[in-house]
Amino acid sequence: MVTPEANLSPFDANMAIDAGWEHCLAYNNLELAEISGLTQDAIFSRGPKGVRRTGMFVGGRDQFLAMDMLDAARRSMVPPFEISVFADPSGAFTTAAGMIACVEDSLSRVEEEGLANRKVLVFGGTGPVGSVCGTLASRAGADVSIVSHESLTKANEVAQQCNERFGTNLEGADGSNDGKIHTLLADAEVVFGAAKAGIQVLNAGHLQYAARLLVACDVNAVPPEGIEGVGVTSSSEPLEARSGCARAIGALAVGNVKYKAQQALLKQMLTTETPVYLHFDHALEAARGNAGS
Ligand SMILES: NC(=O)c1ccc[n+]([C@@H]2O[C@H](COP(=O)([O-])OP(=O)(O)OC[C@H]3O[C@@H](n4cnc5c(N)ncnc54)[C@H](OP(=O)(O)O)[C@@H]3O)[C@@H](O)[C@H]2O)c1
Repeated sequence: MVTPEANLSPFDANMAIDAGWEHCLAYNNLELAEISGLTQDAIFSRGPKGVRRTGMFVGGRDQFLAMDMLDAARRSMVPPFEISVFADPSGAFTTAAGMIACVEDSLSRVEEEGLANRKVLVFGGTGPVGSVCGTLASRAGADVSIVSHESLTKANEVAQQCNERFGTNLEGADGSNDGKIHTLLADAEVVFGAAKAGIQVLNAGHLQYAARLLVACDVNAVPPEGIEGVGVTSSSEPLEARSGCARAIGALAVGNVKYKAQQALLKQMLTTETPVYLHFDHALEAARGNAGS
């Protein structure tokens, strides 16, 4: 389990052990240039038959660096000495996948089409969870704005980085004051909340401006609610903080799908005959199979 951070996430170590991996060794404070040597050190240790008993998990906090590390590991394989690799930095890939899958499920329950052509806002969209959520929504055909409470410049930078790396069509948006938030909400059909834990990004007053809102999904589990009225256990119930037919999806509903998706991908690495290289697209596929169940 490799990470550029000082510590491996205990959450990820527990998830891997619960998925059936017997030993999880942490390689911390890594730089991208170290991945190739480390990968080759791992693959040659058990012979061509035993090599499948090893896998690599890429953690950290940076979605772009994690994808670079996944790619570097993949390019370092020497078939038949090849192992599976799964990137999920800060849980962002599986959490964002859970958010998208839960919202798609909620839309389908009221006979609405999926995310294609929807107006989507991602508050906290400059963080790892929010930017990957925006990436997946854009790849599903939505018209997505990454909202920053700090500045339009910051939002545009992250949107552009995702567009260059992941072929998305994200735009940045300025959420630095109430007036700007009201204007953004006027068009929004789906709102995601992925701001720092314990921060409320939208209150009931803001939500009155969201006349077209169909679903609000927030993943902050630390009070206060990231989006007022979206309780942690909300699972497509009516959004109380706003009159109308909008639905609410909270952190535990998303977390349940995220958990199942991460477990499924960790198990896939253990059981696959052919090495797999897993990231947010695979997380979304796994999450879609678990949302609403
Ligand atoms: N339910 C689950 O399964 C699950 C799993 C993993 C993570 N999470 C949650 O997902 C959320 C996002 O995680 P993350 O690691 O991506 O978050 P993060 O990096 O800590 O923060 C995300 C963004 O929040 C914004 N923010 C920071 N301070 C703010 C403030 N005072 N007011 C408004 N916005 C502020 C920042 O964007 P701007 O400054 O640009 O606005 C920042 O980029 C967290 O709440 C985390 O706990 C949930």
